[in-house]
Amino acid sequence: SHRITLGPLVAAIDQGTSSTRFLVFNSKTAELLSHHQVELKQSFPKEGWVEEDPKEILQSVYECMERTCEKLTQLNIDISNIKAIGVTNQRETTVVWDKETGEPLYNAIVWLDLRTQSTVERLINKTPGRNKNHWKHKTGLPISTYFSAVKLRWLMDNVDEVHDAVVSHRAMFGTVDSWLIWIFRYSHGDLAQSEELIRNLRSHEIWSSFGDPHLRGKFISVSTLRLLKPWRRSVFTCRVFVFHAQCLGDQSAALVGQMCFQDGQAKNTYGTGCFLLRNTGPKPVMSDHGLLTTVAYKLGRDQPACYALEGSVAICGAVVRWLQDNLGIIESPEELEKLAASVGTSYGCYFVPAFSGLYAPYWEPSARGIICGLTQFTNKRHVAFAALEAVCFQTKEILDAMNQDSGIPLTQLQVDGGMTSNRLLMQLQADILCIPVVKPSMPETTALGAAMAAGAAEGVSVEFRYARWKKAVQKSMNWETTEPIANGNGEPSIFSSVPLGLYVMGSLLM
Ligand code: G3P
Repeated sequence: SHRITLGPLVAAIDQGTSSTRFLVFNSKTAELLSHHQVELKQSFPKEGWVEEDPKEILQSVYECMERTCEKLTQLNIDISNIKAIGVTNQRETTVVWDKETGEPLYNAIVWLDLRTQSTVERLINKTPGRNKNHWKHKTGLPISTYFSAVKLRWLMDNVDEVHDAVVSHRAMFGTVDSWLIWIFRYSHGDLAQSEELIRNLRSHEIWSSFGDPHLRGKFISVSTLRLLKPWRRSVFTCRVFVFHAQCLGDQSAALVGQMCFQDGQAKNTYGTGCFLLRNTGPKPVMSDHGLLTTVAYKLGRDQPACYALEGSVAICGAVVRWLQDNLGIIESPEELEKLAASVGTSYGCYFVPAFSGLYAPYWEPSARGIICGLTQFTNKRHVAFAALEAVCFQTKEILDAMNQDSGIPLTQLQVDGGMTSNRLLMQLQADILCIPVVKPSMPETTALGAAMAAGAAEGVSVEFRYARWKKAVQKSMNWETTEPIANGNGEPSIFSSVPLGLYVMGSLLM
């Protein structure tokens, strides 16, 4: 059998919260040639804590690469044609390791983790006016449990191994991309991304060459950070490969993969969480409505940075996993769609999955999940429907904020991510937003974006239900003082708004 020649190939390591993937594309056609995915274990050692094992993450990357290469070889595709690999990853998840031994000094603290709530309160109390947005004009971000800086602060204050390694200048800190790339070697811990809360949004610098004395030492004041350099292109090796790599956070990568290069273009990715990013061009735009300002991408050292407004929702696909693992009312994600479609309504039930507090636009870490509006009639089907609606309503909150900030309403929403295979969810989303929801034929936009970078209605009823949802959100933020609440075919899929009855029928007929 002879080998197929396809020209240069590009690949991506997509290290997400729930799983790791390695994907290989034809660089000319963007066709996905092969991939492999490995689910990741998460541990919840205490209420609100979420951890992953950095070594298991690394192992999952190796496994995905090796399996994918085996598959390519079986297809007679020469893996030496892989010329560039993009690294894209769950952002904010924090790893600290020993630079002498390469050993992690603690589990990775996952972005969803809430243990830093008191650290955050302390930091906010130190700002004039006790304002969580005090540093937002510099970093683009509120002081929140979400970001890496406060996680590192917690690790330094609470884990002896980390503290000792910091004191003896052995501690390395980074997000998962930094950890992986450091392990692959030769780059000595560069390539951290934005959204740590310690990077100046405009100069892109942290620590020693830090142009901004105001941020220095506000969250972390040790030399742990000296080696972090943004956007350095690295050559490194990983088992079978010697390759050039580029690195993008998964949400930025999806923006690139969706070709949202123009000011005003936006995408929403339905993963563990849900993240809507809107390209705002070469200047950072500050939000007045609870959104983040972030660096979207910078495709090359001499290229200008492109910025985005971001609406982050902590819990999206995670609610499906929760219904499956914690409540046991479904056995697979597909079952959720069937259950929900079988009733086509939540029957007045609202589900605010504020498991990790509420992110945008509220930034309220003390919020907790709530399912309300239950009656004797409510069953798991209604709860399933309410869970899907929760994803859509959270997206609507973000989109409303984004439209208000930019003054120009989005006229369609490009979507991607695992949950977009749920057709009922997508139809519901179109109905709730009242704009078309467009899903590309190749849903792996995050990996494609990273690989590219490496290579180079029922309006009235919705309003009513949305108002109820808003009420449920208020309840979730005051959950301690509850009182009863009254009551892929090759073409992109476009979900347009249709009357409620029709989409339910449509999904049943599918
Ligand atoms: O900010 C966290 C985000 O990057 C995680 O993405 O796809 O793992 O939910 P995902």
